[in-house]
Amino acid sequence: MNNNHNIKPTVFVIFGGTGDLNARKLSPALYNLFLDGWLPEQFAIIGTGRTKLTDAEFRTILLADLNEFSRSGKAKKEAWDKFSPHIYYQVSDVKMPAAYEEFSQRLSAFEQEWNAPANVIYYLAVAPEFFPIIATGIAQRHTKDDPTRVRIVIEKPFGHDLESARALNKLLAQSFQECQIYRIDHYLGKETVQNIMAFRFANAIMEPLWNRNSIEHVQISVTEQLGVGDRTGYYDGSGALRDMIQNHLLQLLCLVAMEPPVNFTSDEVRNRKVDVLRAMRRFTPEEVRESAVRGQYGAGWIEGKEVPGYREEKDANPASNTETFAAVKFFVDNWRWQGVPFYVRTGKRMHRSASIISIQFKDVPHVIFPPETGESWQQNRLVISIQPEMSIRLQVQAKRPGLDMMLNTVDMVFDYHGTYAAEAPEAYETLLLDAMLGDQTLFMRGDQVEEAWDLVMPILNSWQGRPSLNFPNYSADSWGPEVAEALIARDGFHWFTLPLKSNDKKKA
Ligand code: BG6
Repeated sequence: MNNNHNIKPTVFVIFGGTGDLNARKLSPALYNLFLDGWLPEQFAIIGTGRTKLTDAEFRTILLADLNEFSRSGKAKKEAWDKFSPHIYYQVSDVKMPAAYEEFSQRLSAFEQEWNAPANVIYYLAVAPEFFPIIATGIAQRHTKDDPTRVRIVIEKPFGHDLESARALNKLLAQSFQECQIYRIDHYLGKETVQNIMAFRFANAIMEPLWNRNSIEHVQISVTEQLGVGDRTGYYDGSGALRDMIQNHLLQLLCLVAMEPPVNFTSDEVRNRKVDVLRAMRRFTPEEVRESAVRGQYGAGWIEGKEVPGYREEKDANPASNTETFAAVKFFVDNWRWQGVPFYVRTGKRMHRSASIISIQFKDVPHVIFPPETGESWQQNRLVISIQPEMSIRLQVQAKRPGLDMMLNTVDMVFDYHGTYAAEAPEAYETLLLDAMLGDQTLFMRGDQVEEAWDLVMPILNSWQGRPSLNFPNYSADSWGPEVAEALIARDGFHWFTLPLKSNDKKKA
């Protein structure tokens, strides 16, 4: 198969080549793009890090990683033998100018060998403190090059707060044009997340309902069963609001709330998302108390296994005040959404892993049926399930078969696995391919990131100034702290969860 869309010869330079992200996501994604015929014939992957390794040693490490993490399973010998000669390793100290000199020498050597100019994608899969020095080092090597050929991909976290995000944007803007900067939010690469735009803007039937006249409230819930594990070093300075809500959940919210773009070009789409973030109501300190709640997990049992509380995780601060759960009630102050609450929640060590958007419609204006016919009466709801179930369900009332008139809630379901035989690509495959194609639609623009920080700053500031006195306040395997139930129950709603499927039940 050859899908490669005439992608130019490409060199990937992966900073953090020996790190976890490359092992689990980047190399498996590149390998699967290769298997599916998306990579150009002339490509090279240069992993770089401080560990001394030969090309052969690095290839052996990556093969083990592929065998463990690739969605296509263990690498087949024939495919690996074709892929692996494209992989190289360079030991480097990113603080030294010599590192960048070596990359550019390698790039020139590839260009000579291929007899063609190459695009170069620098992927910064390293801790954020290295972003400035690497970005500057790269930029100095490419002052004379066509900017469209040099791209820089930046992993999250993009800043720690509004001020640091602004500073990073400013620094990048000194060396790169916006069209060269690819800020990753891997949720945007997920198949089910991309489908939100298709569902909304390729179908006419939803738009007349997609506003405050028909929609009562929206919930966006990303719960994870996993704890922070050995990531406390990063997580303790971050917390659920920074780690998940500022980026992934707000991006999902933008996709639900955005106006129809004029076309599917990256700036048009991103303009409409920024409009949403700009329209979102900023909180006063008093409003933070009413609209945002937090939690931290204590010990518990998950699937028969005892798990520690957050403060007892490896290398954790035993008095940590970091939130591992956050829930916020937002409003989008514009004509479409005035008065419609958007509840978002995310947490670690929750009862189940599920990412779900639930859009609840208003009730019928008048019920014609006697009360006993509708014991399980439920307002219409559209449920977009992002993972692990990949589906869209419209929940409607229907007559239960029988001689009497009894109403039931039933689901009209579009299920990916039932509809498509092919396995969905991983988010990183989509995003790496888009970076090669020069398509920034699924990447964060600088102003988007800053608006999202601006929105969450009052919450972060308020929480920082007011340490929680009752952490841990939810146990592992629960649905989060009671305050989160209260946040939504006050308005007469409850958090929506999908019923377990029969094979999930066996696991639970
Ligand atoms: C990352 C967060 O961005 O997203 C992690 O840093 C989180 O804390 C992860 O676990 C969730 O991603 P996914 O794709 O597993 O839902």
